Amino acid sequence: MRRAGARDASIAKKKSGVHNVRQHIERGETMAYIFLDNRMVTDSEARISVFDHGFLYGDGVYETMRTYDQVVFMREQHLERLSRSAAFIRLKVPPDDFVAEAVRQTLAANGLTDAYVRITVSRGKGPLGLDPDLCPEPTFVVFAQEFRRYPESWYRDGVRLVLAGTRRNPVDAVNPRIKSLNFLNNILAKIEAKDRGALEAVMLNEGGYIAEGTISNIFFMQEGILRTPSLDAGILDGITRALVISLARRNGIRVEEGLFLPEDLLQATEVFYTNTTSEIMPVSMIDQRPFVVGEATRFLHRLYREEVVKYVEAFRR
Ligand code: PDD
Repeated sequence: MRRAGARDASIAKKKSGVHNVRQHIERGETMAYIFLDNRMVTDSEARISVFDHGFLYGDGVYETMRTYDQVVFMREQHLERLSRSAAFIRLKVPPDDFVAEAVRQTLAANGLTDAYVRITVSRGKGPLGLDPDLCPEPTFVVFAQEFRRYPESWYRDGVRLVLAGTRRNPVDAVNPRIKSLNFLNNILAKIEAKDRGALEAVMLNEGGYIAEGTISNIFFMQEGILRTPSLDAGILDGITRALVISLARRNGIRVEEGLFLPEDLLQATEVFYTNTTSEIMPVSMIDQRPFVVGEATRFLHRLYREEVVKYVEAFRR
């Protein structure tokens, strides 16, 4: 009985493996090689323990990066933020040059040009219990897959957002500046968005001021000024956010970081959100309030794309 059961299990495993590979191929995805701890393994070899505290407690941090023409955009900023997030939770991450090399090897092994890259560092394997010292070694993972662009129609027409009832974690609870594996706060807001037919949710902070999206930072044009919640609204210090602020200022657009109410957002003339994968995503609707995709949004996105080209060229030299 046991043997038959074991055989069934092994067949099921093989079948699911074949299925996965086929799915990857059908979707045009490449996820064959993964950097795990200190070496490259295939995706079927890439296993972590059920006692990993990342799995048990969401104890860990991560970064999402994007490559353009084989160059990781804003790599230094992402590695810096990874270290900062880790320091917040007293997690040891490998040195930047090790992480950079792991990313380089992962991209090369998978032959990727325009890729989505994720670095995950968890507390590692240890006995049950919250004490971080139970885990002697963090788990370090880099995987990359072909970047699948969002539909052009989203950039042309904008996407729908909702104002979520779920509030963003207060700064003195789980500080949103930690890019942590603990994503339930944002997942609850994402569920609200989905239930209401929207792509993204705007979360308010404890005080009722606009904080950020579930995976993005929020910007809006009001009275000819580009406004965005300041870091003390309790948000992730988005790398795209910082670049957009700097591009706007360098190109004659006044920018104001501050504490803003939902009413401000609803009175805006243009709204967009930013993140590494979307760049600048125009918003067509928040709850029942429609917005046009305006000039400022288009102008900033053009500047952003020019900046990407410059960055990639500079990196090659
Ligand atoms: N998310 N706010 C939150 C909560 C985020 O998760 C993200 C990024 C951002 C934007 O940050 P950046 O511009 O550095 O990408 C803001 C990434 C895309 C993710 O979770 O995969």
